[in-house]
Amino acid sequence: MKPDTERAREMQEQAERIEGVLRGIKHRIVVFSGKGGVGKTTVAVNLAYALVKRAKKVGLLDADITGPNVPKMTGAVAPYAPGENPHEIHPHVREGLSIISIAPMLPEDSPVIWRGPLRSGAIRQFLADVVWGELDYLLADLPPGTGDEILTTVQEMHPQMAVVVTTPQEVSLVDCRRAVNMAKKMNIPVIGVIENMSGLICPHCGGEIDLFGTGGGKDMARRMGVAFLGRIPLEVKTRISGDQGKPVVLHDPESPVSAAFDSITQNVEALLK
Ligand SMILES: Nc1ncnc2c1ncn2[C@@H]1O[C@H](COP(=O)(O)OP(=O)(O)O)[C@@H](O)[C@H]1O
Ligand SMILES: [Mg+2]
Repeated sequence: MKPDTERAREMQEQAERIEGVLRGIKHRIVVFSGKGGVGKTTVAVNLAYALVKRAKKVGLLDADITGPNVPKMTGAVAPYAPGENPHEIHPHVREGLSIISIAPMLPEDSPVIWRGPLRSGAIRQFLADVVWGELDYLLADLPPGTGDEILTTVQEMHPQMAVVVTTPQEVSLVDCRRAVNMAKKMNIPVIGVIENMSGLICPHCGGEIDLFGTGGGKDMARRMGVAFLGRIPLEVKTRISGDQGKPVVLHDPESPVSAAFDSITQNVEALLK
């Protein structure tokens, strides 16, 4: 074990590196939800690429250490090349987006059975040591719930905005309200809600089926006094794009889901101005 003084010095040095990195990043956004499977990673990836399409310099940090899906959804799966400086990590750059995740550092399909402090340590290391360069936006894709990764990311990254993703059903909205209250408690200045899987686009006739209902997210945002960023329909091609690592906003820019992301991105930019 390292002596306490050495450990304290290392922590101090790391905190200084994080401060230096954050100085080069204009806007910082965390994407989270109370529930898993509601579309956080889909939103984080496509919002990031929608910003890239608007000529912004963007980084995406996969802060879901136990369920790191960003590489799968972006195709950024290759191992990282070692940097010149031993503690530097160079992100993948795919189609103009800089991406960092723990997944490419691990053998395929191996579980991350780490306790909270270790998961938090990984996030701190990403924030301190990834060489992003100057960024207009850094987005963090967070795990569901209220665990250590969320607290660490928010404490260290000082995001100006929380994007909370929900689906329209009451079981998701209940958890979304918790997530919004958590963002308020953590003093994140701007909070915006997205209602994902809001109506199903029929692949045959193009009509909309109210599978999970619609409108609950907007209602909730109004009642809780936070911004509503927009609704995203459920669409088969979006799911396929995610599985193939081809984000829908790049590979199917005319689709209703891409149109929804364009409008949401404009709202995000306007709120952060
Ligand atoms: N609007 C949508 N249309 C179709 N499929 C979607 C949509 N949003 C998410 N999905 C799919 O639902 C699954 C869960 O989404 P994901 O982004 O991984 O959620 P989370 O990160 O919250 O766990 C993925 O297979 C994803 O492709
Ligand atoms: Mg995810």
